[in-house]
Amino acid sequence: MSTEQNPNVVRHHYQTKREDRERILNQRATIIWFTGLSGSGKSTLADAVERELQSRGYKTYLLDGDNLRHGLNADLDFSESGRQENIRRTGEVSALLFDAGLIVLTAFVSPYRSDRDKIRSLFPEGRFIEVFVDCPIEVCEQRDIKGLYAKARQGLIPDFTGVSAPYEPPLHPELTIHSHLHDEPACTQQVIQTCEPRLRHDTP
Ligand code: ADX
Repeated sequence: MSTEQNPNVVRHHYQTKREDRERILNQRATIIWFTGLSGSGKSTLADAVERELQSRGYKTYLLDGDNLRHGLNADLDFSESGRQENIRRTGEVSALLFDAGLIVLTAFVSPYRSDRDKIRSLFPEGRFIEVFVDCPIEVCEQRDIKGLYAKARQGLIPDFTGVSAPYEPPLHPELTIHSHLHDEPACTQQVIQTCEPRLRHDTP
């Protein structure tokens, strides 16, 4: 797919800006990007963090890899290029929701560092918080909540992250969560502690 800009399509600049929406919503639009292996606890943690942020009055939206793959990304596979496009589209949707002034939480394996870094570059400094949900594959595999690791080991799922496809951990995530060492409320608190101060509208 070409990413070149069409010279015949000219961007229209609207009067209402993100800053106007942020003022009304009384928050700083921010992306909280959860990355990690399948079964590491990304979705569970993102869900709990969203609930906590909602209870504190923040306006949020959660994008989930499995869920988007039922709709917007239903045409994509798990090859390297399929995942690249999955993450690219998710970045673009995140950018729209960001422009709407929302706190966007995303839960995607997003195994390639360069894809995540491209998404980061779409946002102003400090508005992209990468949360690495760092859980050893042995633990993910033992949990195997969806039974996918067992299938992958039997060769029934090609290109399975951690088994037959790579996962590139972030080098400088804003936060690393060891989901196998702490329970869900503790992990949620860690994310809230790092993120919440950045979400307040009066933060410079
Ligand atoms: S990503 O790599 O493109 O970011 P995404 O987060 O959308 O992946 O989807 C991952 C989910 O799809 C996993 O939680 C798992 O349930 C399921 N899945 C199915 N096949 C695979 C596979 N080959 N590799 C990883 N996850 C898979």
